[in-house]
Amino acid sequence: MSDQGVSTRMKAVEHTSLRGDDRPLVVVGAGGFAKEVLASYGDISAVVSSAPVFGLVDDDTSLHGSLVFGHPVLGDLQWLFEYGISRVRCTVAIGDPRSRARVVRRLDEVGAAYANVIHPTAVVWGRIEDDAGVVALPFGYVSAGAYVGRHTHLSVGALVGHDVRVEAYATVGPWADINGHCVVGEGAYLGAHAALRQGVTVGAWATVGMCACVLNDVPPGATVVGVPARPFGEPTTF
Ligand SMILES: CC(C)(COP(=O)(O)OP(=O)(O)OC[C@H]1O[C@@H](n2cnc3c(N)ncnc32)[C@H](O)[C@@H]1OP(=O)(O)O)[C@@H](O)C(=O)NCCC(=O)NCCS
Repeated sequence: MSDQGVSTRMKAVEHTSLRGDDRPLVVVGAGGFAKEVLASYGDISAVVSSAPVFGLVDDDTSLHGSLVFGHPVLGDLQWLFEYGISRVRCTVAIGDPRSRARVVRRLDEVGAAYANVIHPTAVVWGRIEDDAGVVALPFGYVSAGAYVGRHTHLSVGALVGHDVRVEAYATVGPWADINGHCVVGEGAYLGAHAALRQGVTVGAWATVGMCACVLNDVPPGATVVGVPARPFGEPTTF
């Protein structure tokens, strides 16, 4: 492996490594995305010293006591607060940006600490906030000059181009492609294989449908679909 390969790999995993903090990881939300977060964390732990996984929490009581990717669903958020929020670090694995933001708000109120989960195959040349609950699944790419805000989810193969800004709580779907100088607003959701022309702004809490090709700015809360992308339905707010 070349020197560049080594340094890129380490830059990705250093986001999740102990960073002087060996408190165990709690994954908040026990749905499908949680499995991918735990699988990624397992791959990270194989290449860098990482804190253990404590388990998951979810407000769906029917999940309590079950296993998700081999880890127990311990209880709900209240259970975690009573256990002691200061004893763990959290990664919120809730796919829907609005639900994720609401849960983070509850966690922030009690002073929760967060861990990033950045898969070792992700390439990070840009800036991801430290200890900010960011998830990047395999083959994520954050190019030079790009910025990724707290509690953002980058799905498998998500491409964040050079000088792009992705604000907090955004979701970049599988193989979505954000080209240079775009801005993805707070809580915006980009569906699988969506593509953004360079320089486009997607407003806060907007949705870009699967495979849409976005040529123009998307207003806050709007949904767009198709090639080229056109508005669909009524805009919503947070
Ligand atoms: C755009 C989207 C949010 C709309 O969801 P919805 O409101 O439930 O839409 P519906 O399934 O009721 O479909 C409504 C109409 O939009 C069309 N449509 C839905 N998604 C579309 C898309 N991505 N591109 C083009 N047309 C789409 C449907 O064909 C339907 O058309 P019709 O009224 O002429 O029959 C959703 O389809 C989508 O693309 N979500 C992203 C999913 C994804 O990428 N998941 C990856 C996991 S991270």
